[in-house]
This record gives sequence, structure tokens and C-alpha cells, in this order.
Amino acid sequence: MTRRKMLVGNWKMYKTIAETRSFAEVLGRNLGKLSAEMDFAVCPPFTALQVAKVVLPTQVAVGAQNMHQSKNGAFTGEVAAPMLQEIGVKYVVLGHSERRQMFAETDEAVRDKVEAAQEAGFIPILCVGENDAERNSGETMTVVARQTQIGLEKARPDGDAIVIAYEPVWAIGTGKTPSPKDAEKVIAAIREVVVVALGETEAAKTRILYGGSVKPANIAEFVAEKDIDGALVGGASLDPESFVAMAEAMGQVSGR
Ligand code: PGA
Repeated sequence: MTRRKMLVGNWKMYKTIAETRSFAEVLGRNLGKLSAEMDFAVCPPFTALQVAKVVLPTQVAVGAQNMHQSKNGAFTGEVAAPMLQEIGVKYVVLGHSERRQMFAETDEAVRDKVEAAQEAGFIPILCVGENDAERNSGETMTVVARQTQIGLEKARPDGDAIVIAYEPVWAIGTGKTPSPKDAEKVIAAIREVVVVALGETEAAKTRILYGGSVKPANIAEFVAEKDIDGALVGGASLDPESFVAMAEAMGQVSGR
């Protein structure tokens, strides 16, 4: 089973509309460096989504960073699927650790968001990952398995309709990473949970990314691992040249 590799930039609360345009201009000059064998996306803040969809080259899809599970309602400050459908986003990042930690998103809310996103025709990027305390107490597998299992409870049994990102919380924005072998172990264990949730055939199709302090200098070692199908990148995805450098480094990993 060959799964297409993916590079996804999570811009978090960075970039205005003007900055999004500049990013797209530089990327546009480097299109030849983006392999046709891989999938690319960036996830700007809501305010820049529409312009991103217009100015980014078609090889680079657009994703939202969050979405509410209801189609509409009295939810001040939230954004619903129909609003994102109009813009033409392809992906929605769901259950990012910053959402879970700082905005109190529960496993159950993330599960309902996954269902709503798939119903709307988006591909959810379901984020899972243990924090420092959980890691130190040896709970990594338990936490990640629980987040994955609940996150997929209402998902369609279709491996192409979901992407999972393993992002250890302690590695996000810290410059620290697990070794690629350790990340591979956790990701292989996540795939076993996906087997139970979606079945063997669909789990073999499901892309599972690594995220947390990925940069041009280390991306290749992660994506060279058998079960790691790409990367979800925060800080290093903000600079278009660094985004392209990561795309190139991934493209050079043999056999891809
Ligand atoms: P980072 O963030 O690459 O800046 O560590 C990753 C993420 O939170 O998706």
C-alpha cells in the first residue's frame, strides 16, 4: 500500500491577509520544487482562508484550523462547516493540542467535529499526542490510543477520508522531538487502533503524520520511517522558503 506523502503547514495565529499573499507569491516562484507525487496544504487563520484559496497555487490545498460541530447556532466566535465549504477548504485540523489544552476541547467534542467535517466533505486532520507528564509516567500509548479511538468513533470507514497527526505536546514549538524510531513506534501503534476502528484495508490507506518541531533539517528522517506519511508543521511552515525546503527534503527520501 503506497500512501501519498503529505506536508501540511499549520499557521496557528500567524499571518494577515497581506502576509498570506506574500507567502503565496514566493511559493508560486518555487512550484517546480513541489513533487507531483505528494500532497501539500496550508492552514491559515480563518480571516486569511478565502484569500489563501484564491492566491495559492492549486498544488497547495487550504485547510482550516478548527471547526464547530454544529451547522449553525448561537456559538459566538465559532465557525461552521457551511462557511468553510463556501471557501473551498479541503482539510480541517481537529483536536490540535492547543485546542484541547487552552480551549478545553474534549475527546467527545473532537469526535463530533470529525463526523461533521466528513459530512461536509472535508478531510479531518485528527491530532493526537501525549503531554510531558503523560510521557514521563509511561502513558503515551494509552493517551494516544484513547484520543484516536474516540476521535474515530463516528468517522466513516474510509481511510482516504481522514488523516491523523501524531503530535507529542512536549515537542510542539520546543525544538525537542522524539527520535524518528520512537515516533514510528507510536504511529505504528496508532495504526493498530485505526485497524480496529476502520478495518484493516482502510487503516492501510490512512495517512498518519508526525508533528512537533519539524524543520527542513529533520523532516527527512521522520518521513523515511515506514508508517510516517508526512508532517504537520507549525513554526517552520510560516516561511515559504522553509516550506519549500521541507517539500524538497521529503521528495528526496528514497522510494517516495
Ligand atoms: P511546531 O508546531 O512545528 O511549531 O512545533 C506543530 C503543530 O503544532 O502543529
